[in-house]
Amino acid sequence: MPRGLGNTCAQLIVLVQVKRFLKVVSWCALALFVGAQVIRPDRTNPPVDPALQYRPAPELEKILRRACYNCHSNETKWPWYSNIAPVSWLVAGHVRDGRRRLNFSEWRRYSEDRRKVLTYEVCEAVESQAMPMPSYLWMHPEAKLSDEDRETICVFSGQ
Ligand code: HEC
Repeated sequence: MPRGLGNTCAQLIVLVQVKRFLKVVSWCALALFVGAQVIRPDRTNPPVDPALQYRPAPELEKILRRACYNCHSNETKWPWYSNIAPVSWLVAGHVRDGRRRLNFSEWRRYSEDRRKVLTYEVCEAVESQAMPMPSYLWMHPEAKLSDEDRETICVFSGQ
């Protein structure tokens, strides 16, 4: 067999093997994706007791509702993509941790001291632009805060 032909054959064999490999990888990825949908995180909103929720001045409440309530209250508006794993796990994790850390729907359960600390931390978090989480702002441009919004938040927190 001429040498050139031998090389071409070898290349063809490799090509077929790579294609077969990619096919297997794609099927595995698809199977994993479909299988992942079975694991559904908790996406419930506990009931809101009006007697417990945070009731600041309307201009402050408006900003907080727009920028923070999806993760820091029991009034989460779950986006459509929070139905789809693995994004659903990420979103539900943020809401779970956010609520655990600060829940405006259960504000009056906190002690007087705790509320003071949290109010201070809220100003800190927005001043440092740690909150709203930068990754959240990608999908929620409406939650962006202006300098004026940040100032309003901090004035109300007494800073
Ligand atoms: C996408 C969900 C999400 C949004 C929106 C969001 N937060 Fe958070 N927030 C979190 C999570 C998750 C934590 C807990 C972080 C941790 O424990 O490391 C947190 C923690 C905090 C804390 C505790 C201190 C800290 O920095 O860890 C404060 C205060 C806070 N957020 C304020 C706010 C305020 C104010 C807004 C709106 C301007 C906001 N957050 C918007 C998810 C969010």
